[in-house]
Amino acid sequence: MSDPKTIAVLTGGGDAPGLNAVIRAVAKAALAKGWSVLGIEDGFEGLLRDDGVRPLTLPDVRGILQTGGTILRCSNRGDPFSSPIVGSRESADRSADVLTTVSKLQLDALVVIGGDGSLGIAHRLAKLGVSVVGIPKTIDNDVGGTDVTFGFDTACQTAMEAIDRLHTTAASHQRVMVIEVMGRDAGWIAVRAGTSGGGDVILIPEIPFDIEAVCHKIRERREGGSRFSIVVVAEGASPKGGGKTVVVGPADSATGVERLGGVGAAVARAIEDRTGIECRVTVLGHVQRGGSPTSWDRVLGTRLGVGAVLCVERGLSGVMVGLRGDRILETPLEDAIRDPHRVDPEGDEVQAIEATGVSFGR
Ligand code: F6P
Repeated sequence: MSDPKTIAVLTGGGDAPGLNAVIRAVAKAALAKGWSVLGIEDGFEGLLRDDGVRPLTLPDVRGILQTGGTILRCSNRGDPFSSPIVGSRESADRSADVLTTVSKLQLDALVVIGGDGSLGIAHRLAKLGVSVVGIPKTIDNDVGGTDVTFGFDTACQTAMEAIDRLHTTAASHQRVMVIEVMGRDAGWIAVRAGTSGGGDVILIPEIPFDIEAVCHKIRERREGGSRFSIVVVAEGASPKGGGKTVVVGPADSATGVERLGGVGAAVARAIEDRTGIECRVTVLGHVQRGGSPTSWDRVLGTRLGVGAVLCVERGLSGVMVGLRGDRILETPLEDAIRDPHRVDPEGDEVQAIEATGVSFGR
């Protein structure tokens, strides 16, 4: 048995299916070594509050493997390097308070489960001397240093099931169904859910689309006897020469991050205007982030959680665990956040999908 340690775990950013599987694995693997485990609530915010930390014992992590969300809750507003000042629009650097909390709790390591934003914060904390291990989480599948992130498989399954349902209505009414999926600047959910759901057109941020090419595909299908079409649009997709479609204002007032949304409606309007064919739009939104994780996400989450504990045991810091081939390996956080994972427009996967007649609008 290794030296007893105290570790803390937090879930940063938005939720993703499989977070509880990871928390459970971190806690079980660490408790089995005789270590103490603390849960930080509300992402990094919990490190800045007096009441944001609680012990995680075996009873706390029982029965959570199959549940969505996170028992620790999460937040994308708790960046300690830019923490909102109550009653003002300003923010302050409270990283020194995090260092104080870490030393007060006598933490040997902080396990940060998060996407690119949270892993970026983790990297900065590691540079300040906090011992940090990251675990990549996001339905967008856009983190470097791992073949895949947990949460992505469940999101694709949910989106595929929705497309299956929309397919029958599209066929019955001979309509064009436009389905907008999440993913931010990565088209992974659109590619995988669109392909597995039998989409006819898939539009992704990595391939700016030509609306004429989209309409050509839809007309071609009509002429060939398929009087309906399924168009899957990633929220970050944009027309050639155009920009992304954002929801309210240029950015979220608290985080400064653009809120994407609305490209599905714009695409549907453009198709209807050009072809005269009736279109309907469905925005899947946060449905993709909820619910019970798939078997794949539960197993991947479990392996990543255990992998993070093993990194702590080896004294590693400033790294992120990821799946590479069939192994869990560590990558410097710096590398993982520098090289985001995107769909390769000329890659094997896109080429194979195009070979089946699917249009990427190019
Ligand atoms: O990063 C995950 C994600 O669901 C993106 O796909 C989406 O653009 C964003 O988060 C939505 O964020 P929020 O929950 O803050 O609206």
